[in-house]
Amino acid sequence: MSRLTKITFAPLDLTSLETAEGRVAVCVTPDGKLDQAARRANRLTRGAIARLVDSKSFEAAKSGQVMTLAWPAGMAAEALDVLVLPNRPTALEARKAGVALGKLKGRAALTLVAASRSRAEELAMGIALRDYSFDAHKTKDKADKTTPGGVTVQSTRWEDAATAAAPLIAVAEGVAMTRDLVSEPANVLTTTEFANRLAEMTSLGLEVEVLEEKDLEKLGMRMLLSVGQGSDSPSKVVVMHWNGGKKGAAPLALIGKGVVFDTGGISLKPASGMEDMTMDMGGAGVVAGTMRALALRKAKANVVGLIGLVENMPSGNATRPGDVVASMKGDTVEIINTDAEGRLVLGDVMWYAQERFSPTGMIDLATLTGAIIIGLGHDNAGVFSNDDVLCDGFLKAAKAEGEGAWRMPLGESYDKQLKSKIADMKNVGGRPAGSITAAQFLQRFVKDGTPWIHLDIAGVASVKSETPYAPSGATGWGVMALNRLVQDQFEAD
Ligand code: BES
Ligand code: MN
Ligand code: ZN
Repeated sequence: MSRLTKITFAPLDLTSLETAEGRVAVCVTPDGKLDQAARRANRLTRGAIARLVDSKSFEAAKSGQVMTLAWPAGMAAEALDVLVLPNRPTALEARKAGVALGKLKGRAALTLVAASRSRAEELAMGIALRDYSFDAHKTKDKADKTTPGGVTVQSTRWEDAATAAAPLIAVAEGVAMTRDLVSEPANVLTTTEFANRLAEMTSLGLEVEVLEEKDLEKLGMRMLLSVGQGSDSPSKVVVMHWNGGKKGAAPLALIGKGVVFDTGGISLKPASGMEDMTMDMGGAGVVAGTMRALALRKAKANVVGLIGLVENMPSGNATRPGDVVASMKGDTVEIINTDAEGRLVLGDVMWYAQERFSPTGMIDLATLTGAIIIGLGHDNAGVFSNDDVLCDGFLKAAKAEGEGAWRMPLGESYDKQLKSKIADMKNVGGRPAGSITAAQFLQRFVKDGTPWIHLDIAGVASVKSETPYAPSGATGWGVMALNRLVQDQFEAD
C-alpha cells in the first residue's frame, strides 16, 4: 500500500522560515496582500515577494495558484512557494490550493505557513490527494531508500485544524487505496489477491466475508459465474460490513464491478489498448476505498460493500456468444456479447445484496461502458437512478467534493433493445444509447422500492492526463462523494 505523506500541524513559528529545509510555502491574497508569514519571508528575501506581487505575472495569477521562487536568498529552503489564496477561502478553493502545493512537493519536506488562513485542514487534504504516485513496481525508485520529507502545516489554530483534518485524511487514505488497486496489474491483483487485500481491512474494524465459487453456485449466481469460468482465477464475491450506526438498522449497500481483467472473453477485444482493462475493477476499487475511509473515520452509519471479483478470459471453458444462463433472480439471459460482462456480474451481486440486506439504498459503481466515455468524456461519471431524492443527494455530495457527475436518463422504451428471441433478455442492446441500455439491464435486478443509483465510471476511474486531484492514472473518483453522501444522509447524529 502506498503510504500517504505524513502531515502534522504545528503552531505558527515565524523564526522557522529562515531555517526550514526543503520547501517553504507562504500565502498572499489575490489582491496582493502579504500576511505576517509572507512579510517575514519577504524581509528574509530582501523584498522578493513584494516584487512578485507587483509583477505583471501576478496580475494574471488566480486564487489557488502557486508561484515559486527557487533557492531564495536569505533562507535555508530550496524553494519558496508563494500561494495565492484569500484569507477565508471556500473548502474547495483551499483543497485545490493544497493540490497545487502537493504537485510541486516531490520528495522534499514542506513547511506550509498557513498562519491565520481558515481551512488549513483542506489545504492538507489537497496536498495528501495530489502527493501520490504508484511506484510499487519501480525498482530504481525503490533503490532510493531516503523517505520523502513530511509536511508541516503551521496555523494559529493548529489544534482545531488537526482535529478537522483527521476525517479528511481518512478519506485521502481511502482514495489512495482505490488508486493502488486500480493501478495494480492483473497478474498481481488476481481475484484471490484482491480478496486478501480486502480481508486485511478487518484490522480496521470491518467485517469481511469471502464467498467462493461453490457458495456462488449454491446461491445460483450463474450470470456472475459465466463471466469468470474461462479464467484460472476463481470468481469470488466479497462482502464488507461497517456497522457504525444503529444496531440492526438496514444498511446502505455499495456494489462494485471487480473484473480484474477484461479481455472481452470469446468476443475478444482488439489488442490495441487492451492493457487498460487492468482498471476494469475500478468500481470494486472505489467500494473498497470508501469502506476503508468509513472505517478509518469511524462513520456512524451501517454500510455494506459488496464486490464481484471475476476475470473475463477466453478459453475452452469460456462462455460463448449465444449461451443462455440463469441469474440468481431467476431470469434468463442470452449472452450475445461476452464483452458486456460487467452487467452480468453486477446483476447477481445486486440481487444478492437486496435479498440478504434489504438495504435502504443501493449504489453500484462500474467501469461499465465505452459509450459513457463517448457521451461524457473523462470529467463526469454517468449517474442513473430510479429515485430523485437519493440521486439529488449524491449529485450534491459529488459537487461539494469537486467530483464530476452528470445524471443520465432511464426509460422503459429502451427495454425493447434488450428483447431476446430465446431468453428473457439479452445482455446487449446495440450501439444506440449503449450506456442507458446497460443501466436498463441493471435495473431489472433492482427490486421495486429500493432506491438505486448506478454510476458508470468508465471515463473517470483512470485517465491519461492529470485531474483536479490526481496525477495521470488512477483517480480514486467517487470515494470522496460517497463518503460525503454517507456523512450527510446516512449518519445518525
Ligand atoms: N469494461 C468495458 C467498458 C470500458 C471501456 C471500461 C473502456 C473502460 C474503458 C466493458 O466491459 C465493455 O467491454 N463494454 C462494452 C459493451 C458492449 C460490448 C455492449 C463496450 O463498451 O464496448
Ligand atoms: Mn467488457
Ligand atoms: Zn468490462
